[in-house]
Amino acid sequence: MRRLMLLIAAGSLWLFLAAVPVFADGGPHVASVNSGVAGVNADSCAGCHRAHTAQGEFLLVASSATASCLTCHGTTGLGSTVDVENGIQYTLGTDGSRDTAVLGYTRAGGFVTARIGSGEAVRLAYLSGTNVRQLAKVPVRTAGSQPTTSAHLPNTGGVVGAADGVAWGNGPNSLTEYAGPTVDVECATCHNPHGNGQYRILNPMPAPAITGVDPFVPAAVDAPVTDAALAPAGDTRNYTIIQTNGGTGTLLASQVEGLGLPATAGDYFRRRVPWNATSGSSNDAPNGLSATFTAQISSWCLTCHTRYLSAGWDELEDDAIYKYRHTATATSRNCITCHVAHGSNAQMTGYNSANMDYPGGAAAPVGDSRLLKIDNRGTCQACHEPTGTIVAGQQVGPTPVPLVP
Ligand code: HEC
Ligand code: HEC
Ligand code: HEC
Ligand code: HEC
Ligand code: HEC
Ligand code: HEC
Repeated sequence: MRRLMLLIAAGSLWLFLAAVPVFADGGPHVASVNSGVAGVNADSCAGCHRAHTAQGEFLLVASSATASCLTCHGTTGLGSTVDVENGIQYTLGTDGSRDTAVLGYTRAGGFVTARIGSGEAVRLAYLSGTNVRQLAKVPVRTAGSQPTTSAHLPNTGGVVGAADGVAWGNGPNSLTEYAGPTVDVECATCHNPHGNGQYRILNPMPAPAITGVDPFVPAAVDAPVTDAALAPAGDTRNYTIIQTNGGTGTLLASQVEGLGLPATAGDYFRRRVPWNATSGSSNDAPNGLSATFTAQISSWCLTCHTRYLSAGWDELEDDAIYKYRHTATATSRNCITCHVAHGSNAQMTGYNSANMDYPGGAAAPVGDSRLLKIDNRGTCQACHEPTGTIVAGQQVGPTPVPLVP
């Protein structure tokens, strides 16, 4: 399998054959290929590096590490089925490159536009013992994609750059007000371009470059997120929000196509799979491991955002800013239940949500959606109904089509 790509970056035009192993999916990021274990004959290096004619540091083909990723993962790159700028996975073409049909919308949202149905959340009340509890789903947005209102790598006029920003809550508790160090984040801060056998090639201990005066405190121990097996040759993984129940999830692009669902299927909230099951449901498990995924991915986010770890919402912490914290590591309430990892188009139009300062009081851009998936603080209502007036069986919000998964 070979991937032919047309690459347009920084005004230059490259046409070359990308390095994709013939025996497995994983693109140029397969650890056993890049490590040399599979033979000292890797072709993948040429997908990202030039020996003499490099355009960026570390001998990269593009002007920066992030730009080199976007040659394949951008709006125009064909070297990967996944367009992270717009949060779309396309089907795999027979020549191994990106085809034009949309397979679905990706889990992490998008850096420039995203298609999260942040204004179309649906909630269903059910009886759990004697309590009325809530189930919620956030579908793909009916009216198409929208520009993002927050992203882990903010874009300037549609050009995704590095993020110089505060790693909120990084470091140990502090009794003097301290929100976190200013650091530089790029794609390769969170992901290992050379592959490492981890879920989404996430670095088990991200180490962003410090660009401010305060030190970045790395995690004390690695935060691995277990990966599923690579897809077989001629297939690729499912990076979309379409999942099926039963622990294994839907893991391959071919299996998603086989479901016969529209590309707009799936659930961005993904607290439960399927979203409306009151029993027999499983947790979000894109790696097929529903018992451990939620805790692992939260631990991973906590490597940078240390003080978002909660010992329970009623525990007083010895910290001046992060004094009480919503429980977030427990099953089904992990960081990526409420947040996406790349970027969100959620609309913060209410006064409180649109003008909320960052931790410690610095002003945030007006309308910044904090990577949340639901407009304003609909996120809270997706799980809570604080008035006690909604009865079991009552549904709020438009019935999503298709209803499941
Ligand atoms: C998907 C793109 C990609 C591929 C494929 C790739 N690299 Fe890299 N490489 C990078 C990026 C980006 C950096 C910059 C360092 C960073 O930010 O992690 C880098 C850095 C490096 C470095 C210096 C830093 C380090 O991690 O040691 C070496 C050496 C290197 N690459 C060698 C290779 C070799 C050899 C291959 C093929 C076996 C290869 N790379 C394949 C993207 C890639
Ligand atoms: C030469 C093209 C190419 C470049 C450059 C490239 N990728 Fe990929 N990437 C792929 C392909 C192909 C896949 C497999 C999925 C698919 O079929 O598109 C992939 C998959 C991934 C995945 C999912 C991995 C997994 O284990 O499922 C991540 C994350 C990723 N790339 C990040 C990056 C980052 C970060 C960079 C820049 C350092 C980068 N990629 C550069 C082609 C590329
Ligand atoms: C702050 C950390 C972070 C940064 C920066 C980041 N990613 Fe990711 N990325 C993640 C996480 C976490 C996931 C898994 C999301 C999930 O499963 O919901 C992911 C998922 C992906 C996927 C799979 C598709 C998806 O939406 O789930 C690809 C491909 C990818 N990233 C590539 C990139 C590229 C290319 C860049 C830079 C333009 C980048 N990432 C920047 C953390 C990051
Ligand atoms: C129950 C939903 C929920 C969960 C789970 C959650 N968050 Fe948040 N997060 C929010 C909301 C809502 C905001 C917006 C600010 C606010 O209301 O405090 C936010 C804001 C943030 C911010 C931006 C800075 C700030 O505080 O405004 C960061 C960073 C963050 N969350 C990280 C995390 C991490 C890391 C985890 C997992 C350990 C996590 N969140 C889990 C709902 C959640
Ligand atoms: C490599 C360190 C790093 C990791 C890992 C990381 N973040 Fe962040 N995060 C940052 C930095 C730096 C910022 C501020 C700059 C920015 O917004 O990109 C930030 C900002 C945020 C924000 C606020 C965005 C806004 O609107 O201003 C949220 C929410 C957040 N992170 C959640 C998460 C979640 C959830 C995860 C795990 C999927 C995660 N982060 C993993 C470094 C990290
Ligand atoms: C994913 C579901 C979920 C979301 C989203 C969510 N919560 Fe919670 N919340 C819970 C659960 C479950 C508990 C109780 C269990 C625990 O943490 O001990 C809880 C506990 C609380 C508590 C403590 C009192 C109580 O009812 O137990 C408050 C207050 C609270 N949440 C407010 C919020 C607010 C405000 C938001 C939006 C920023 C929010 N929650 C979003 C699930 C959620």
